[in-house]
Amino acid sequence: MEKAAKWWQKAVVYQVYPRSFYDSNGDGIGDLNGIYEKLDYLKDLGVTALWLSPYNKSPNADNGYDVSDYYDIMDEFGTMEDFDRLSEKAHRLGMKLIMDLVINHTSDEHPWFVESKKSKDSPKRDYYFWRAGKDGKEPSDARNMFGGSAWKYYDETGEYCYHLFTEKQFDLNWDNPAVPEEVVKICKFWIGKGIDGFRIDCANLLGKDTSFPSVGGGPDAILKRDKQIFNNPKAHGYYRYLNEQVFTPCDVPAFGECSQVTLDEAAMFSDPARNEISGIIQFEHVKIDDGPNGEKWADVPFQPKKLKASLSKWQTGLEGRGWNCLYLDNHDQPRLISRFGDDGKYRELSGKMFATMLLTLKGTPFIYQGSEIGMTNLNLSYDEIDDCEAKMAIEENKRTGALSDEAMLRAVNKRGRDNSRTPMQWSADKNAGFTTADKAWFKINSNYKEINVQESMARKDSLFHYYRRAIAMRMQDELFALGSFRELLADHPSAFVYERILGSEKALILLNLTGEECEIECGELPVYADAEVLISNYDAAAKVSEKMRLRPYEAIVLKKADN
Ligand code: GLC
Ligand code: CA
Repeated sequence: MEKAAKWWQKAVVYQVYPRSFYDSNGDGIGDLNGIYEKLDYLKDLGVTALWLSPYNKSPNADNGYDVSDYYDIMDEFGTMEDFDRLSEKAHRLGMKLIMDLVINHTSDEHPWFVESKKSKDSPKRDYYFWRAGKDGKEPSDARNMFGGSAWKYYDETGEYCYHLFTEKQFDLNWDNPAVPEEVVKICKFWIGKGIDGFRIDCANLLGKDTSFPSVGGGPDAILKRDKQIFNNPKAHGYYRYLNEQVFTPCDVPAFGECSQVTLDEAAMFSDPARNEISGIIQFEHVKIDDGPNGEKWADVPFQPKKLKASLSKWQTGLEGRGWNCLYLDNHDQPRLISRFGDDGKYRELSGKMFATMLLTLKGTPFIYQGSEIGMTNLNLSYDEIDDCEAKMAIEENKRTGALSDEAMLRAVNKRGRDNSRTPMQWSADKNAGFTTADKAWFKINSNYKEINVQESMARKDSLFHYYRRAIAMRMQDELFALGSFRELLADHPSAFVYERILGSEKALILLNLTGEECEIECGELPVYADAEVLISNYDAAAKVSEKMRLRPYEAIVLKKADN
């Protein structure tokens, strides 16, 4: 039978993007004391763990995903004392803390890099990848993830250094044993400060093919690059080491951010028997609207059928041999309601349906800040764009001319990361109640007067209260954490229907992924006619009958026990 569940298998995680969560001191930037002040709000919502996006010292070339000191706090976010206070109170309220461990690369301002770039004999030279140029040019045609070459030239030694992200984020050389040793120290330091688990940034990028092979200039260059850089098998060895040194002895989980991971690779990472990491944050379902050659900036319409097929594949694919982390948006993705649901007439209804999905699938659910009140995408003009990825992609597009300026802006507004990084909308007050400064660090979505926490908490039938109920439902019943997943009506174009089964306990989840009514032939469904309705997003849930109709974005969870 099932082993006793670990806390992180039952947890409902809430992701905080500190910069945009809450500003406690009126400088326009969210901070640790701001999170501290909102802990009661999070407790009330019912989440049991917080993933904090990076709060380490950083020059913010990529909003903290470029660390310059792993043992210190970002200036704008506060002090170590502030962190200690936050950690103490979160734990007192029963919430675990998950740290974002950015260990594929450091900032160019990290002392390791500063030392490394000085000379070819620097003791830190091999912390990074330095290569001589070829014929006065880059060592290879390797491309970074955001747009442009992966090599940056340094006069000091006349060599190039390798970076998969911005040119202020240089990739660490994990084959140098000093690097994993440093990371073990960092992990232990933060566990000592109360950190209960880790989210590993770029987890399946750690292993490098140090021949840095050519990608060529063809239309398939992105796909080719991705094949070369993701899932290098060396990463398994690094995680076995971290596991042996930290994760197992300290009994802390690690969730790996794994874009482009296959089911088999994901199972290798997260199979408990292999002692690597605990869960996989995979990307397949957030790439279903990519272009045919892996282009992120494509205008491919969302197809509900692809979403359910992908999620279902990962549910069954990791059953008994790995662990999914569940998410529909985060700080790198557009807002889920704008992307997969309807941010107009059905904003709350579609938000409730997706909340039901997130909280009834198998895996550890991650709710991104603001999803619980149904925050939406926004439209930026070129000069309002803040995100480094978008800026680099725009530059790259200018060089290649692949898209017109208008098409590129449309694409960035559709898929760009700025959408989810606007300040949290707390109230209808000035600056959405996020800051008392004249201006927040980043544009606030103009819909904050209608969409904000105060409004959503004050109204009983709101999305916020639906999230609360759905979280409570999940927490009350191990069926949702541990039960197996079985999809029904897999060919239905708009209804996502599945069962969760744990011993004699069963739940049936019916979700209409579209804004159109749809019909379901229930002849093929197991009998749930007299089952209890645990939650539904309409006043009265549709009755399960031979032929039933689901209203726009309807969601129903039914539960029964078979004897
Ligand atoms: C991850 C982060 C993203 C960041 C990148 C580089 O994908 O989630 O925000 O830009 O890694 O660190
Ligand atoms: Ca502040």
